Amino acid sequence: MEMQLQWKCWLMFLIGLSSYSSAYRILFMGPFPAPSHWLWLEHFQRDLLRQGHHVTSVNNHPTKQPHENLTEIIISPSFDIPKHFPKKNIFTMQFASDFQNLQLWWTIGLMTTEHAFKDPKVQKLIASQDDHYDLVILEQFFHEAFLMFGKKFNCPVVTIGTMGYADNMDHAMGILTPWSVIPHLLLSHTDQMTFSQRAYNAYISLYDAVMRRWFYLPKMQELAEKYFQGVIAGPLPHVHDLERNISLMLINSHRSVDLPRPSMPGLIDVGGAHIQPAKQLPDDLQAFLDKATHGVVYFSLGSYMKSTDMPPEKTALILKAFGQLKQQVIWKYENDSVGELPPNVLIRKWMPQNDILAHPNVKLFITHGGIFGTQEGIYWGVPMLCIPLYGDQHRNTIKSVREGYARSLVFSKLTVDDLVRNIETLIYEPQYKKSALEVSQRFRDNPMHPLTEATFWIEYIMRHRGARHLKSQGAFLPLYQYLLLDILGCVLLGAFLAIWLPWKMLKRAHRWWIKGEASSKLNESKKRL
Ligand SMILES: *[C@@H]1O[C@H](CO)[C@@H](O)[C@H](O)[C@H]1NC(C)=O
Ligand SMILES: *[C@@H]1O[C@H](CO)[C@@H](O)[C@H](O)[C@H]1NC(C)=O
Ligand SMILES: *[C@@H]1O[C@H](CO)[C@@H](O)[C@H](O)[C@H]1NC(C)=O
Repeated sequence: MEMQLQWKCWLMFLIGLSSYSSAYRILFMGPFPAPSHWLWLEHFQRDLLRQGHHVTSVNNHPTKQPHENLTEIIISPSFDIPKHFPKKNIFTMQFASDFQNLQLWWTIGLMTTEHAFKDPKVQKLIASQDDHYDLVILEQFFHEAFLMFGKKFNCPVVTIGTMGYADNMDHAMGILTPWSVIPHLLLSHTDQMTFSQRAYNAYISLYDAVMRRWFYLPKMQELAEKYFQGVIAGPLPHVHDLERNISLMLINSHRSVDLPRPSMPGLIDVGGAHIQPAKQLPDDLQAFLDKATHGVVYFSLGSYMKSTDMPPEKTALILKAFGQLKQQVIWKYENDSVGELPPNVLIRKWMPQNDILAHPNVKLFITHGGIFGTQEGIYWGVPMLCIPLYGDQHRNTIKSVREGYARSLVFSKLTVDDLVRNIETLIYEPQYKKSALEVSQRFRDNPMHPLTEATFWIEYIMRHRGARHLKSQGAFLPLYQYLLLDILGCVLLGAFLAIWLPWKMLKRAHRWWIKGEASSKLNESKKRL
């Protein structure tokens, strides 16, 4: 008897173990073609493969590290962003208004979504009959029609937010974002806003919410219906409902550098997930960095904007400024030649950025202020000179400057003097390095590596088949119930009736009394007559 019980316990333990370490099938989708987005997302995909899961990946960038359990569906040719939104305009762009920026995101989202749906390999996936997945992972960007894959494969959906929080993520999880303390995604305000900042924040947030719900999402719905109609049995759900059905959102945000905000168990911050310990540098770069006694300035405009797209006079100006420095300079420049190269400057088409920033001789990072590069600079405690160009780069730059580890320059107004002076200020005035080290320590202080945490939660969602308990019912309440407007209405009605009815009665009684008095007076006078 005793023996049998023990045996049963063992058996149950083994079954439990195997179900906990089982390999899942995951559909991983990053339809947006910008390389930086995929560079970030691929870290999550690689970690899932490392855990033994099977991944089918829909994206624009064939992997450089093939894996036996990775199946790729490459959207090709990928959407040509520069063709529709010329890079030339970006380098000369005046500050676009926040409203234009929002519309730009929506337009790009709709175009890249449709472009991906048109790919025959993606259509084959849409039409597939016998594929089975345990989870759909999608970049949380502007591709909501892809949520229909969750419905198609009848499995939970996890999204990964590349750019940080947006109000609609809160809404999908069941929180109404407090516009009094949470600035809109595009704004760089702190949580201490002046009256006019709060007014503008409320205005743009309301505009975003209304336009998104009644203009942008209906267009996404049209796309979803165009490509999924007939493939899924029964009527298609609305993307707005699919969005509120997302199980978990992993968001590129970190408590040490981003504002505190109300949250839900299904919203997990994974800022810094892409940062790994430094790897060995190529020998020539290692030697260049090691022997730089005055330190090194590292310059990169990121993976989308190429230094080669810059107007030639700007290239000449930057080279001239670099030539005046005592420091060595490493420039990620995407061509073999750049004309007259000063002796202290090294150019290379591709740089192991994380490993370079990790080198103790790097004194300064000149960056376009993209979110991933900024986080790497923060992690390695390197002061930054930011030259923002588009999108969220202005916002990131303002935040970095405010935190005291960065300065900023305007690309269109760049001069040799400005550049040299700002570089030297950042290197020689110690407060910048001090702030950089402080924020670096905060950024590194995590209970576990953000990527490990991300994988834990992704597996958690699969183990608990959607883990509906991570989301508040608030996501499904109509707004008037969420804001208690119905109760307020009842109270007001009650109060009104409580005052109005007695008042009305009193008035009537009063009138009756006066009437009575008057008629009795009349009677009296009649009698007297
Ligand atoms: C691929 O998946 C199989 C079956 O799930 C597993 O046994 C194997 O270890 C995986 N391969 C790698 C390299 O993880
Ligand atoms: C929401 O997700 C669950 C699985 O997590 C699924 O069973 C359900 O059908 C989904 N609802 C909609 C409207 O897609
Ligand atoms: C790139 O380098 C080649 C020579 O290697 C040169 O002819 C060409 O003009 C360069 N392009 C740019 C944009 O500098």
